[in-house]
Amino acid sequence: MTSSVSPKTASSRSCLAIVLAAGEGTRMRSDRPKVLHEVANRSMVAHVVATMVAAGATEVAVVVGPDREDVANEARKVVPGAKIFVQRERLGTAHAVLSAREALEQKPDDVIIAYADTPLVSTETFEKLRAPLADGAGVVGLGFNAKDPTGYGRFLMSGDQLLDIREHKDATEAERAITLCNAGLMAFRGEVGLPVLDKVDNKNAKGEYYLTDIVAIARRLGHSTVVITVAEEEVHGVNDRAQLAAAERMLQDRLRHKAMAAGVTLIAPETVFFSYDTQLGRDVVVEPNVVFGPGVVVEDKVVIHSFSHLEGAHVASGAAVGPFARLRPGASIGTKARVGNFVEIKNVQLGAGAKVNHLTYLGDATVGANVNIGAGTITCNYDGFGKYRTEIGEGAFVGSNSSLVAPITIGNGAFVGSGSVITKNVPDNALGLGRGRQTVKEGWASAFREKAIAAKKK
Ligand code: UD1
Ligand code: CA
Repeated sequence: MTSSVSPKTASSRSCLAIVLAAGEGTRMRSDRPKVLHEVANRSMVAHVVATMVAAGATEVAVVVGPDREDVANEARKVVPGAKIFVQRERLGTAHAVLSAREALEQKPDDVIIAYADTPLVSTETFEKLRAPLADGAGVVGLGFNAKDPTGYGRFLMSGDQLLDIREHKDATEAERAITLCNAGLMAFRGEVGLPVLDKVDNKNAKGEYYLTDIVAIARRLGHSTVVITVAEEEVHGVNDRAQLAAAERMLQDRLRHKAMAAGVTLIAPETVFFSYDTQLGRDVVVEPNVVFGPGVVVEDKVVIHSFSHLEGAHVASGAAVGPFARLRPGASIGTKARVGNFVEIKNVQLGAGAKVNHLTYLGDATVGANVNIGAGTITCNYDGFGKYRTEIGEGAFVGSNSSLVAPITIGNGAFVGSGSVITKNVPDNALGLGRGRQTVKEGWASAFREKAIAAKKK
């Protein structure tokens, strides 16, 4: 073969993703911009930006409203090199896309448009949306069959070709009967984009520059325009708190299925709440009513008992947590360790096989392997100003109801007597006792009672 240029495969094409995040979000009744509201503990804009990268975007542009450094920073947390463009006036979706003109001028092979308030669209869907571009399509629309199409743009089709998109307000009665609707998200070839976008005008019912108009314009210029379809729930948009809750429900459902597919037992999946980034090993069992905040990693064969709350924690294989345990950021639970009921742990390395079974607070501590922490133990790690560390050596035994006043070290194999307030270090294999000495007065109780009864008879 002597052919000089081989066509680019989908994966070798450069791809600019433009994320529209300039929504006003007044129906959220919030001081926060809409796209910073969270589903599964991650802002909607962060979800969408992350999906763009997963779908193969080589460049991410985010279009924000005026003075929205907060939204820009949130996007940059996911993609530090994201280009931020400001749409000064809300003149329509095509106008929003054109705010990223500089990025479009870089001549990307593909362009995908996503909405930051539509956070559930999967990576696979964006890949499917892009795929026809590699085969020569000019514009690809994302459609769904709407239960109630009111308000959506309608797809006017001829066979598999998309002829035009008609906005609800501009549609005839016959066009309004169409249920194949526009999700809003689109893909187009970079070379098709700018010349077509520059031809969009605002002569329509809303007086806006419609992105949807690029379909008919591209066709007039001889490009093919096609459609791929998805389930309506995947393109669920968020405009108010009820729709935010619906998005949360759908994403939780996905995360639960993903966990179970990866070998996790969920006894009552509908009662377990995950974060977008929760990582669970094989043969983990999660009992009902457990909440995973962000940053949790759970290794194989761990059991999380009911009513536990975990956040920023690592649980090593074979450990058991709960019921009613709280693991806070920096909690690292060792192999086969036990954390029982009403135990709170923050910023602690708990050694392999260690046991903290009841009613305890451990903060800012290192606890060696096979240590036993008795019920009601408290590390006193805070004096109102600074935080101080507690070090407990391997195999130590801390008696129940002890206060360990940090900074403090309990040596390897040492004992702490129950009810102690420990303010001095306890060396290896020593006993630390810090409590009032008990005295016993023989017969005192009966003498007291006799006196009291006599006094009452008078
Ligand atoms: C848009 C589509 C419609 C589709 C619907 C799906 C157009 C003209 N219409 O309509 O066919 O069925 O989405 O939900 O595209 N935005 C900006 N700047 C603007 C205008 C909009 O950033 O000037 C952003 C919005 O924040 C939002 C998205 O673009 O994230 C869609 O805008 P919206 O006004 O909600 O469009 P719809 O009228 O719903
Ligand atoms: Ca909308």
